[in-house]
Amino acid sequence: MITREQSPMNLEMPFATLAGFITPNERFYVRNHFPIPQLDAKTWRLKIEGAVGTPLELGYDELLKMEMQTITATLECAGNGRAFLKPPPDATQWELGAVGNAEWTGVPLAAVLERAGLQAAAVEVILEGADQGEVKQPPRPVGKIHYARSLPRAKACRDVLLATEMNGKSLSPAHGFPVRAIVPGWYGAASVKWLTRILVSDERFAGYFQTVDYSYWERRNGLPTLLPIQEMLVKAEIACPASAEVVSVGAKYRVHGAAWTSDSEITKVEFSDNLGVTWQLARIIGPPMQNAWQLWEFDWLPPAHPGKTTLLARATDARGRIQPEQHDANNGHYLINHCLPIEVEVR
Ligand code: MTE
Repeated sequence: MITREQSPMNLEMPFATLAGFITPNERFYVRNHFPIPQLDAKTWRLKIEGAVGTPLELGYDELLKMEMQTITATLECAGNGRAFLKPPPDATQWELGAVGNAEWTGVPLAAVLERAGLQAAAVEVILEGADQGEVKQPPRPVGKIHYARSLPRAKACRDVLLATEMNGKSLSPAHGFPVRAIVPGWYGAASVKWLTRILVSDERFAGYFQTVDYSYWERRNGLPTLLPIQEMLVKAEIACPASAEVVSVGAKYRVHGAAWTSDSEITKVEFSDNLGVTWQLARIIGPPMQNAWQLWEFDWLPPAHPGKTTLLARATDARGRIQPEQHDANNGHYLINHCLPIEVEVR
């Protein structure tokens, strides 16, 4: 793994090591804002409170007794690909590997909310993690804060999981032991780790990690409006060749990578070795699965002359969304889904 930050621990998967549909746990990126809390399953409690009929507290064993589900979902950090932005922003320089695809097992959030009974006035469900710390850069609240994010009521009741397992193993401390949320189709920021409180709210939550941080500008009726980062944008990444890799003149090369989107299917992945002047269809591997990535491959014949060549991949989804050529500056240093140039040397 590539260490992007020691403390808090932030690790990136070297994306060229992509070897299958499921990302092994030890290859799954880690994105933390604060030190990892050391939680004990025996004493861990999950509070469900706020705009509910019956406030609840669940222990780990009680949660495990509820009906479990397993889903496959891709998590991508909203800052993945930031190293491609020019000039480079003053934030963690993720390249291609702050993304992974895993099988998650847990209890549907909807089942827990049903037990507590949502009040008619409930509009959002705030998920709070046990981790805490001080935010360093202004504007910032005074004192320590917990990592927290909210979900609109409809999303919280649809397909969110309170996961206890990742690829058939108990979550590791880095990935949220004992319980984390998995919010399918949304950027990783929504999938709160080390869950200890679910606060049902009768108003929209304007917490730090969805206003000052993890937000973007969208023009609505001509007015720029700050919105929390939620749904993943359509995106394909090239795993191999890697940037600066040397490929042989005239020898076929299997270019491969992954592509993903939100609440839809990847319908097309295209490849270009001439800066997007022409595109060729890549092969999508395996059946489509909502909110899980798809692997793809392309048999490329590198140019007959030595030199530097830039490779691009571009995905389209069933919602008709296609990757743009350029990064949208309204997204700041997040939501980086333009076609990322991979420069290789043909020799
Ligand atoms: N949950 C808590 N409690 N604290 C965090 O710092 N980071 C979020 C999310 N959940 C975070 C969190 C972000 S930004 C991402 S991208 C994902 O966790 C990363 O999950 P992973 O570390 O398991 O890959």
